[in-house]
Amino acid sequence: MRAYDLIMKTRRGEPLTGAEIRFLVAGCVSGDIPDYQLSAWLMAVCFQSLTPEETLELTMAMRDSGDKMDLSGIRGVTADKHSTGGVGDKTTLILAPVVAACGGYVPKMSGRGLGHTGGTIDKLESIPGFSTAIPYGQFIDTVNRAGCAVVAQSGHLVPADKKLYALRDVTATVDSIPLICASIMSKKLAMGADCILLDVKTGSGAFMKTEQEAVKLGQAMVRTAKLAGKRCRAVVTDMDMPLGSAVGNAIEVAEAISVLQGERHTPLGQLSLTLAAHMLVMCGKGSLEECLAAAERAVDSGEALDRLARMIGCQGGDPSVTEHPERLPQAANSFTVRADRSGYLTRIASEEMGLAAMELGAGRRRAEDVLDPAAGLKLHCAVGDPVTPGTALATLYASGVTDFSAAAARVTAAMPIGEERPVLQPLLRQVIDTAE
Ligand code: URA
Repeated sequence: MRAYDLIMKTRRGEPLTGAEIRFLVAGCVSGDIPDYQLSAWLMAVCFQSLTPEETLELTMAMRDSGDKMDLSGIRGVTADKHSTGGVGDKTTLILAPVVAACGGYVPKMSGRGLGHTGGTIDKLESIPGFSTAIPYGQFIDTVNRAGCAVVAQSGHLVPADKKLYALRDVTATVDSIPLICASIMSKKLAMGADCILLDVKTGSGAFMKTEQEAVKLGQAMVRTAKLAGKRCRAVVTDMDMPLGSAVGNAIEVAEAISVLQGERHTPLGQLSLTLAAHMLVMCGKGSLEECLAAAERAVDSGEALDRLARMIGCQGGDPSVTEHPERLPQAANSFTVRADRSGYLTRIASEEMGLAAMELGAGRRRAEDVLDPAAGLKLHCAVGDPVTPGTALATLYASGVTDFSAAAARVTAAMPIGEERPVLQPLLRQVIDTAE
């Protein structure tokens, strides 16, 4: 078999066999197929796409390219969740303890933020003492005791994705539905949970800019997961504006804690509990209505907050932050951006807000950058709110920055004020639980 012939086949739109796809993935991991041939094949996929069968074969070959997580030591049905990436997305910090409090088990491997998008691992590492690199035995033990645990992505899981993603990143081949599907689903399948909830973001701050594209990606992933024998649902949710009012790391942990302390009637709280309910339905805990009611009770009774405290304690962190969020890192400096005219807030551009948070030290330009756990921003207004000159729009926080002018200019431009109240779109756009 020659990589050249397989590139030509895909370029002509002829489907590859399972053996041919496995040959490409094996050659990718071993280094036998050079980067220029892999890149050419990735570009051919971008133009010709892959059939559902090829997408499944690619996903399985990638899943099998490295270690797999053994979850057999967990004493119940396991549920995992994946978000395609966003700004202010702290839903994992809320839904994992809620699902745990309702009898599900959430063994979760998460990523770090890069560019304008945040990562759950960076948020959790802002909790004093919290470790996301715990040994396997401690991970399983934490899931059994707390009902949830979150660790950083291991390099040994799906090495093919590590290689292919790095190539896609520099060859303009990231936004191909079968490639995104295989990248995400290979990691989810290697993780091995029984049920998978996929949160596909749509809008200006997301990979999938239109709802139609997001639905196609959701369908491809649900189809692949079901063919692989998993229970899976996808939800399409808005990422035109940041989720919730905090963007950063410690500041987002504090917002998640406030939801678990009872502030669940916010759009963030409602979306997080709805996602938790979908996970519980897949775990066999009842209908969507019953699971939503259980999720709400888990917050109101304090049980979900207790699960978060337990998880933090088991992973070496200070559980008292769940009662005293002021013990989370606090920024030395702050600056409040105010409205300069009257009108309605017409937009909060999520990508720009993510970039502003990154400039303040909450995110990374490059993978090796060091974060300021206290940096970030807090929104004081929502889209559609009336404002007058002087109304506080957002407060920016940083320890290492004293001149806030660049970030403030970015935030001001990202929060335009207009004369007409904009029409608000729902956060949750669609639920996909069958392939087509
Ligand atoms: N997230 C991933 O893990 N892979 C992709 O290809 C896109 C988003």
